[in-house]
Amino acid sequence: MQKVKLINLPKIEDPRGNLTFVEEKNHIPFDIKRVYWIYDVPGGEVRGGHAYKKSDEFIIALSGSFDVIIEDGKMKKKHSLNRSYYGLYIPRLHWRTIENFSTNALALTLSSTLYDGYDYIRDYKVFIELTKQ
Ligand code: TYD
Repeated sequence: MQKVKLINLPKIEDPRGNLTFVEEKNHIPFDIKRVYWIYDVPGGEVRGGHAYKKSDEFIIALSGSFDVIIEDGKMKKKHSLNRSYYGLYIPRLHWRTIENFSTNALALTLSSTLYDGYDYIRDYKVFIELTKQ
C-alpha cells in the first residue's frame, strides 16, 4: 500500500507575494483528473468520513487551517494543514476525516479520478474488511 505523506511544494518567494505550484507526476505521484475545494465550513463541522477504492488525493490548505485524520486500518494519525506550500498525499484505501476548520479555511483537493459515487467506501466496517485483504 502507498504511504500517506506530507509533500512540500516549490515556493517562489517574492516581495510582490509568494507563488507555489504543483505538477502531476513531478510533485504528486498521480495524474490530476479532478480538482475540488471545500470552503465556507461552519465552525465545528466535519467533512469526509469515508475512503476511496481507487482515488488518490492530495489536499492543500490554500487558506486557513484544518486537520486531516487518516486511518489505514491499523493506525490513526492527525495531520494539521495550515500552509499553502505543502499538502497531504492520501493514497486510496485510507479512511479520511477533515475537521477543526478555521474561519475562511479553503481545502483544495486534487484527485486522480473523475467523480464516481461508487468509488466511495462510506461504511467503516467495510473499510476495515478491505484493509485486511
Ligand atoms: P463528499 O465527497 O461526500 O463530501 P465530504 O467531503 O463531506 O466527504 O461530497 C459531498 C457531495 O458532493 C456528494 O453528494 C457528492 C458531491 N460531489 C460531487 O458531485 N463531485 C465531487 O467531485 C465531489 C468531491 C463531491
